[in-house]
Amino acid sequence: MNLLQNSRFSARFGLSTPIALAPMALASGGALAAACARAGALGLVGGGYGDLAWTQREYTLALQAQDTGRIGCGFITWKLDEDASALDWVLGLPPEQRPRALMLSFGDPRPYAARIAASGAALICQVQRLEQVPQALEAGAAVVVAQGAEAGGHGMNALNGRATFTLVPEIADHLAAQSPDTLLLAAGGIADGRGLAAACLLGADGALIGSRLWATQESLAPQGAKEMAVHTDGDGTARTAVFDILRRKNWPAPYDFRALRNALHRQWEERVDALRADPAAARATYDAAVAAGDFSAAHATVGEAVGLVHDLPTAGALIARIDAQARRAGG
Ligand SMILES: Cc1cc2nc3c(=O)[nH]c(=O)nc-3n(C[C@H](O)[C@H](O)[C@H](O)COP(=O)(O)O)c2cc1C
Repeated sequence: MNLLQNSRFSARFGLSTPIALAPMALASGGALAAACARAGALGLVGGGYGDLAWTQREYTLALQAQDTGRIGCGFITWKLDEDASALDWVLGLPPEQRPRALMLSFGDPRPYAARIAASGAALICQVQRLEQVPQALEAGAAVVVAQGAEAGGHGMNALNGRATFTLVPEIADHLAAQSPDTLLLAAGGIADGRGLAAACLLGADGALIGSRLWATQESLAPQGAKEMAVHTDGDGTARTAVFDILRRKNWPAPYDFRALRNALHRQWEERVDALRADPAAARATYDAAVAAGDFSAAHATVGEAVGLVHDLPTAGALIARIDAQARRAGG
């Protein structure tokens, strides 16, 4: 069907496969972003909560390790409202070092849109509901990412979240009618060539992949978490506020967090309000587990796609595998 061959996303960003590495906080470091760029995808460094030193180190590493111009960066929007120094740093680099694309998720992108446009970076906005699309278009998004609740990490809670399989075609139709030049990526649950081909069939121009690329050699995720993920099927994750409370992250409603549903999560998942009211003892257990690398209590951030993760390859080998599978599957 040549959907991958004719991808507008690949053409726009000079890619050989319509895949973007999700800008996963603390996992999508410079080595992973560079490996994805070298493999023909868009490599987005996970600027996450906007830690300036981390962003400077990892973004610089990404630039040094590739020369493809396929490097960008992503930030959590509501956190930028508190401290935008990492965004300012990356946009203030010499033109040839600036991000090819800048992705914003979880909050109103409009206050940052003019600065991003002036830098020359393409704005990518991740949304979880149809009703958020007009705001992204008003911000001038070149690419909208439709994130289903299957996704690993943060997304919309059970009351508000949508599934990738319906959100993507609905937003594709909306964009076709309202803003046909705006590109669309699907995110949430895409881990192999079937998922990429399906995303393109549903009307997306490509896929933004998190969990599957988290489980690669270059990812900065802890090795013990990656190994646990290989042995967990897709039933083994859950989406709640438990780990945000344990991590002292002040996430605004209606966002919460999908990760492996481990023993500490199970202990609190039906008593979230009680945990919020008195988190001290559980936090002590959690902190000790993080220090010890014990993922029965520490969080391992993956989505439902974990059930499709059976090995820990290099990112380059994985992207080649997904691309080949997708083309064979009729994408
Ligand atoms: C470990 C991890 C960290 C993430 N951190 C961020 C982040 O900092 N900013 C962001 O926009 N999205 C983040 N996400 C969500 C991704 O952007 C993306 O929506 C998601 O990974 C797609 O679903 P998948 O995990 O099933 O591929 C994260 C996802 C994971 C798995």
